[in-house]
Amino acid sequence: MNKARIGVVTVSDRASRGEYEDRGGPAIRDWLAHALASPWEAVPRLVADEQTLIETVLRELGDDENCCLIVTTGGTGPAPRDVTPEATETVCGKMLPGFGERMRAASLASVPTAILSRQTAGIRGKSLIVNLPGKPAAIDECLRAVFPAVPYCIDLIGGDRLETHAAFCAAFRPDGAARPEPA
Ligand code: MTE
Repeated sequence: MNKARIGVVTVSDRASRGEYEDRGGPAIRDWLAHALASPWEAVPRLVADEQTLIETVLRELGDDENCCLIVTTGGTGPAPRDVTPEATETVCGKMLPGFGERMRAASLASVPTAILSRQTAGIRGKSLIVNLPGKPAAIDECLRAVFPAVPYCIDLIGGDRLETHAAFCAAFRPDGAARPEPA
C-alpha cells in the first residue's frame, strides 16, 4: 500500500522566528498517528504569517510533495497578520465551506471565541487543504469534527486511500462507494 503523504503546516510568526516551540504541528502529527491505520508520513513545515509564503508552502506540498492532505494550524483569526484562509483560497480550485462551519460549530460548544476563527478547507488538484486554529486544544476538537469525511473526500479527488482506526475516529464512506478512477 502506498504511503500517504500528509502536509502539516504550522503558520506562526513567533514559532518561525524560534521565539517559542511549535506545539501545533506535533499535536497534529500525534492526532493523525492515533487516527490512521494505513501507512502515512508527515511532511512538516513551519512558516511565518505571510500570505505569499503560506501559498508557496501549500503549492509545494500539494504539487511537488504529493500530499493528499495538508493540515494547517494558525493564522485563521481576525488579527491583521492572520491570512491563512486567504492563502488557502488563493491556491485552491474549489472551496469546501462545510469544513469551517462544522469545526466552528463543534468548537463553540467549548469556547465562545471559536467564532473568531475563519478556518476553511479546499481542494488543490489532488490535495485537500484543511485549516485549524493555532491553539493546540483546537486540534483535537476540530479534527474529530471533520475527519470522518476526510478519507472519502480524498477518494473523490484521486488521492491515497486513507483507513482509520474506527475506535478513535471512524471514517465514513457512503455504502457501496467505490474508489473513482483517477482523472
Ligand atoms: N477553536 C477551538 N476549538 N479552541 C480554541 O481555543 N480559539 C479561538 C478560535 N477557535 C479556539 C478555537 C480563537 S481565540 C481565535 S482568535 C481563533 O480560533 C483564531 O485562532 P488562530 O488565529 O490561532 O488560527
